Amino acid sequence: MAAAAQPVFWLGKDTLRVSAALFAENRRGLCRGLRATDGLVPKSVVVLQGGEQTQRYCTDTDVLFRQESFFHWAFGVTEADCYGAIDVDSGKSILFVPKLPDSYATWMGEIFTKEHFKEKYAVDEVQYTCDIVDVLNKLTPAVLLTLRGKNTDSGSTCREASFEGISGFQVNNTLLHPVIVECRLIKNDMELEVLRYTNRISSEAHKMIMKNVKPGQKEYEMESLFQHYCYTKGGMRHTSYTCICGTGHNSSVLHYGHAGAPNDKLIMDGDMCLFDMGGEYYCYSSDITCSFPANGKFTPDQRAIYEAVLKSSKTVMAAIKPGVKWTDMHRLADRVHLEELVKIGILNGSVEDMMKVFLGSIFMPHGLGHLLGIDVHDVGGYPEGVERIDEPGLRSLRMGRLVQERMVLTVEPGIYFINHLLDQALANPAQSCFINNQVLARFRGFGGVRIEDDIAVTATGMELLTCVPRTVEEIEAFMADPEKSFSPVV
Ligand code: GLY
Ligand code: MN
Ligand code: MN
Repeated sequence: MAAAAQPVFWLGKDTLRVSAALFAENRRGLCRGLRATDGLVPKSVVVLQGGEQTQRYCTDTDVLFRQESFFHWAFGVTEADCYGAIDVDSGKSILFVPKLPDSYATWMGEIFTKEHFKEKYAVDEVQYTCDIVDVLNKLTPAVLLTLRGKNTDSGSTCREASFEGISGFQVNNTLLHPVIVECRLIKNDMELEVLRYTNRISSEAHKMIMKNVKPGQKEYEMESLFQHYCYTKGGMRHTSYTCICGTGHNSSVLHYGHAGAPNDKLIMDGDMCLFDMGGEYYCYSSDITCSFPANGKFTPDQRAIYEAVLKSSKTVMAAIKPGVKWTDMHRLADRVHLEELVKIGILNGSVEDMMKVFLGSIFMPHGLGHLLGIDVHDVGGYPEGVERIDEPGLRSLRMGRLVQERMVLTVEPGIYFINHLLDQALANPAQSCFINNQVLARFRGFGGVRIEDDIAVTATGMELLTCVPRTVEEIEAFMADPEKSFSPVV
């Protein structure tokens, strides 16, 4: 079928139309990858299990469903409780949907036909999940390829497809995972278009917040505004992760915003804000951090730290191109931070010697950035044969491989003043010898600065997907200029 005739996912108004051709292209890429893999036998059939609708603990209250990421990548199906099969030799796709009881029509709405789903998702065939054994048997598969493998960020193993009767088939659960992960690593043109969209809407949402933030508000009001903008303007029902809206000291808490610290501090005059939030559209993520003073005007110390981080962001972005090592980019960011902290007076001595004792990780304990796609920490950072470097800082880097064209990555350097890490460094003579504690004392309670952008790697460099004010001058002018005001839809 020609791409133009393909159905689209679209939430109306100004939201993005995403063609089902995106997923057909992903499936074709997967079949190509599998056919080139040692150990693949003819008549292999991929079987993926979609996400299941779950309930809140022991209640009958549904948890808002979000599709399982591998299944979404291959089929773009929004409904729960489905399976998908792909015949590797022919590329034929079969979607299995649940056969719903009549009561579904009473409580949940219309029960759609198999033909409806075939048109909606442009697959070759649609069958009911209760018929999966018979339908797969008709393909006379030599082997079913199921998905089992470890997510190198969480350490969790993805749940392999299973259904009653699968024991009657030959199953290989090792071949598929590394191949599909390699496919997800490299984004096709249509995926890049969706990621540009998630970045555009999320960037606008961040700008709207910069216009509306005021001392005296609660951090969670900013979270709420962000979500409201992303949903009303962008059709983004989900964010890619829990919103991090740290202000003042909280801006040094890397994953602030969780249930124990739910963005509930009052924003004060003089606070730095660190807002890390990204909207998700049709399961594609964004991950953006803006740091700025709550009152719109940087103090000299805030400017100094902010510009140090901005310098490392710009330096890294200028160096990114296919073939560079991501671990080198992390070290480059560390180096710039240390050089700038010397200029500010917090550190003194040789930056080379500071690198040897990993002083950079005291100020940036997290990794420089990670792959981004259907998951905010997207898969593929450490394939077999690429080991995590067990050093402070680098051990938190979520990708250890060379940069490749069509990877989408975050670049998110930061400098934070985290009391327990500063105390640790001061207690370690190998590190404390570089620290000017009198100057450092001034920055206790400062919080932190992170500048996080999303980028797509091109043949010669990178494309910046995020579009928000970044320099001190841009931020101050933007926050001060009522002409550029956004009206929050409240
Ligand atoms: N928002 C999570 C991260 O930046 O990786
Ligand atoms: Mn982030
Ligand atoms: Mn990130």
